[in-house]
Amino acid sequence: MIGQQKIIAALADVLPDLNTATIAEKLEAPKSSQLGDVAFPTFTLAKALRKAPQQIAADIVATINQEGFEKIVATGPYVNFFLDKVSTSQDILSDVLSKKNTFGDNNDGQTANITIDMSSPNIAKPMSMGHLRSTVIGNALANITQKNGYQPVKINHLGDWGTQFGKLIYAYKTWGSEEEVKSDPIATLLRYYVEFHEKAKADESLNDEGRAWFKKLEDGDAEAHELWQWFRNESLKEFTEIYDRLDIQFDSFNGEAFYNDKMTQVVDLLNEKQLLVESQGAQIVDLSTVDENLTPAMIKRSDGATLYMTRDLAAALYRKNTYNFAKSLYVVGGEQREHFRQMKAVLSLLGFEWADDVEHIAFGLITFNGKKMSTRKGDVVLLKDVLDDAHELALKQIQEKNPTLANKDEVAEKVGAGAVVFHDLMNDRTNNFDFSLEEVVRFEGDTGPYVQYTRARALSILRKAQQEVDMASLSLDDQATWDVVTSLGQFPTVVRQAWQRREPSIIAKYALHLSRAFNKYYANSRILNEDDQLNARLALVNSVAIVLEESLRLLGVKAPEEM
Ligand code: ARG
Repeated sequence: MIGQQKIIAALADVLPDLNTATIAEKLEAPKSSQLGDVAFPTFTLAKALRKAPQQIAADIVATINQEGFEKIVATGPYVNFFLDKVSTSQDILSDVLSKKNTFGDNNDGQTANITIDMSSPNIAKPMSMGHLRSTVIGNALANITQKNGYQPVKINHLGDWGTQFGKLIYAYKTWGSEEEVKSDPIATLLRYYVEFHEKAKADESLNDEGRAWFKKLEDGDAEAHELWQWFRNESLKEFTEIYDRLDIQFDSFNGEAFYNDKMTQVVDLLNEKQLLVESQGAQIVDLSTVDENLTPAMIKRSDGATLYMTRDLAAALYRKNTYNFAKSLYVVGGEQREHFRQMKAVLSLLGFEWADDVEHIAFGLITFNGKKMSTRKGDVVLLKDVLDDAHELALKQIQEKNPTLANKDEVAEKVGAGAVVFHDLMNDRTNNFDFSLEEVVRFEGDTGPYVQYTRARALSILRKAQQEVDMASLSLDDQATWDVVTSLGQFPTVVRQAWQRREPSIIAKYALHLSRAFNKYYANSRILNEDDQLNARLALVNSVAIVLEESLRLLGVKAPEEM
């Protein structure tokens, strides 16, 4: 909270029985900014002080040292603080301008590692809008952890192993063709997969064929392995195009297959602790002692094949041993909640205390113009198509609004992709939401382009002014300015909250709030007017540009200089 130190010190003077941490906890934002900048509620003091809250508030105001504040008033049971606008603005703006993009950094994390399992699409299937959420939420969380002093490790746990590859190999060998796959790899492989399921409906035995091929693959059969490797390479090429487009990098592409030779360790440990029991030929871990609502975790199928769960357990151990993480995050859709609860339960049965540091960062379902996504039926919305359409829409608006802009195509890509990413991130992550591009790629309203546009506007003012900003004469004290300044001052708190709640939407909502405050200010002031406040106004404009750019960077959204 802005001015917090000053307020705590003043309150501590008149409330010697309260320690500063207790005071800090009670401070809150008043219901409206008209009531003040910071409020201190007195309800909880009534008992100890044997006075009515209203009386306590009035007594505090009568005795507190008001120096350095515009005023301090009692409003019912609240003590409301109005900060001195001139000195507070000066403090905040000089902080932003001297720290630039490091403004808001903290060292809470002390360089501890946070592993982030993110994106993790499945080989031989298109990356769908569903995987977009994992990719962009994971990427934003990585940026946010870093801003909080941690070291993120971004892991793409590719779905490159499992029975589906047996099915695919069978389908390819039975009715596929090499030329077809080469000409359009993922689409063709997806078609084979869909056809497999259609045919399997009529003929159950196909499933056995698929299983048999997967068993061969797990047993190291050369032909199966070669086909698998080929499917994997082709898929990765297509995924990489999308990652490049979103400018998202990974520290590791160790997918499920990477753990093939690392599963015996988990199985041995489970055996040692006598946790494995047999059930209908399969090996399972009973989890009812941890939580009676949890169904058992299946570790090995009756034919000896390992499972998604087995590989995830091996991966969890590997990550602890390799990175010694402080937290291990899994950015995966809410439909896998049960899976991750089971995984954590098995880890804690194994006696690993760090099981508590494993967190499923769940997110809601995304629909696109009301359409759901399902790869089984082949009815998918492709991320690539969405990005292409967003690009087109952005380009159209740029051509209307700024026909002379030089690098329209480049800007349209930043605006289109930025719009999609921003929209994804501005919703609380566990919400389900529907999505239409027209609504998202708009330059007005609660959109990414609106924030980008606001920052470009700030930059254009600075270009016109053509002078260095210096802070010497700052004395801004009107309400519109003050709303911008207080919003800027909240950024460090927002950075912390976004991490504490694992919620990039806090940054996105903040960026919208700051943009609105700035545009209101812009509409009501003659920023470039040649008077003795010109410098101060430019300092404000420059600070806004810096903090908006940094907010967008945290979200993984590019900010064009002009648009
Ligand atoms: N490939 C999986 C899917 O698309 C997601 C993997 C998530 N990560 C994990 N460690 N289980 O559903």
